[in-house]
Amino acid sequence: MLRAVGLARSFGQDESLVWAVGGMDLDVPAGQTLAVTGPSGCGKSTLLQLLGGLDRPTEGEVWLGGRRIDRLRERALARLRRRAVGFVFQDFHLMDELSAAQNVELPALLAGASPPAARRRAAALLDRVGLAARARHLPAQLSGGQRQRVAIARALVNEPLVVLADEPTGNLDSAATHDILRLFDELRAAGQTLVLVTHDERVAATADRVVSLRDGLPADDTRLDGVGNGGGAGNLDGPGGPDGPDGVDGMPDVDGGAGRGNGAGFGLDALLHWED
Ligand SMILES: Nc1ncnc2c1ncn2[C@@H]1O[C@H](COP(=O)(O)OP(=O)(O)OP(=O)(O)O)[C@@H](O)[C@H]1O
Ligand SMILES: [Mg+2]
Repeated sequence: MLRAVGLARSFGQDESLVWAVGGMDLDVPAGQTLAVTGPSGCGKSTLLQLLGGLDRPTEGEVWLGGRRIDRLRERALARLRRRAVGFVFQDFHLMDELSAAQNVELPALLAGASPPAARRRAAALLDRVGLAARARHLPAQLSGGQRQRVAIARALVNEPLVVLADEPTGNLDSAATHDILRLFDELRAAGQTLVLVTHDERVAATADRVVSLRDGLPADDTRLDGVGNGGGAGNLDGPGGPDGPDGVDGMPDVDGGAGRGNGAGFGLDALLHWED
């Protein structure tokens, strides 16, 4: 579903040159929950941004759903991010002046959903994350854990091929962390492909697989089959859940790729080749 080939990203030049990601190969099959860990500065956030098309590699390739994305023109890449990637950040990144429901609706509207369809999807997702009663609240009126649940609902609204989360529990207390982990667990059970960057061993322990980085390269790659989950992928090739093909040869669309059936029905192919 998600693949990096010789992926590298440097910053600065000459004496200040830093290789944040140092030439990395990574393959995340459909349905897998991957945790990426490692010390501060080892390249976790940089890797996540490259995988989600928020940043461009210095060298190497990024493939999502069987398509190479790192060379897409900016507009096509923006469209791809909106439709196929759900980001969750440590500090939530919600729009302060919009209600919880409006925050969740926004990416759906930007992706072309009608206002009633966006409202319906947002309401269903807020219900799914346990916040139906908070839909009209502004972010400032919500707790940290509730804000993060809104951010997760927002990440899901366009039925992304992958959800990428950077320290999603980093600003949360332990009760709120527990709620968020339960949500991620539900996502995994539903076959969502998920990459979690985390310092928190409790978070990493809920994944199917943990890759620890040192200086921009994997120092360890461990399968956690059967630990804390019922649906872990048993090998590196197969999808873990009730998913379709892993997207390398097959070409999953936005609806079928992660085993869910509703939504706008845009294929990734259409997404990549749709011209304004
Ligand atoms: N925009 C940038 N300009 C210059 N250097 C950068 C930039 N972004 C990241 N780096 C450098 O790349 C390396 C990896 O940074 P990155 O943010 O990916 O680490 P991280 O593992 O996410 O750290 P943390 O756990 O503290 O969030 C660091 O040495 C960092 O200083
Ligand atoms: Mg980081």
